[in-house]
Amino acid sequence: MSLVCLADFRAHAQELLCKSTWDYIDGGADDSFSRDENIAAFKRIRLRPRFLRDVSEVDTRTTIQGQEISAPICIAPTGFHCLTWPDGEMSTARAAQAAAICYITSTYASCTLEDIVSAAPRGLRWFQLYAQPDRLLTKQLVQRAESLGFQALVITVDVPVPGNRRHDVRNNLDLKTNLLLKDLRSPKERYSTPHLQMTPIDPSMCWNDLSWFQSITQLPIILKGILTKEDAELAVRHNVQGIIVSNHGGRQLDGVAASKMLISQQEKMNHPTEE
Ligand code: LAC
Repeated sequence: MSLVCLADFRAHAQELLCKSTWDYIDGGADDSFSRDENIAAFKRIRLRPRFLRDVSEVDTRTTIQGQEISAPICIAPTGFHCLTWPDGEMSTARAAQAAAICYITSTYASCTLEDIVSAAPRGLRWFQLYAQPDRLLTKQLVQRAESLGFQALVITVDVPVPGNRRHDVRNNLDLKTNLLLKDLRSPKERYSTPHLQMTPIDPSMCWNDLSWFQSITQLPIILKGILTKEDAELAVRHNVQGIIVSNHGGRQLDGVAASKMLISQQEKMNHPTEE
């Protein structure tokens, strides 16, 4: 069967995956309003093409934090790829390297960071951090990523408490057991630290803690999960190098606007009369 678009891959994956894994990947928090709104917002986008421009040669290359990528596309951090593919994040890293785009590797990667780097040594990677309550563990994790050649630290800010994912509660989802089942095929211990499921993420983290992160790493810091102008301004004031406007795929706080809508509003404010 040829898979030619995202909808094909989606249908194929749903056929192959067990229900609890599918629900975990597909589900939003609570009523999934924000998840659905993300999809609806993309569907509402209408293009304004301009014609009679020479497009015989198209160059989509750009840079991100000073590094070249083949197109303005990154692979967002998502956890537990071994739930869906034996090689997990190693395959994701290979694909990102082949496409010459940036792969943001999750704290909850199911392969070790070392294995991910060896699988695609030339790929551009950023490391996504869920700050752990144990500062030492957090520091070790960040410094390990830095010494492995990850080029930026992406701190997720929108999980002071994990989203309420109703499917996962109903399915009694135990990510660790799901991964262990997968791992029966290859019994090697290959989890990255920290182990999951959702080892508690530090709920006390606030703006003042950013200077601590800045003191333990030379990497540029990007905050992921910023949804308001006020927080974007605070991010600038705290000298971070970037933000990722994201509502976590609607998997965290249900009821927030679609990430795409927030970006469009900002674009309109910045370029009100753009032709
Ligand atoms: C999630 C976490 C891992 O959304 O970011 O499931």
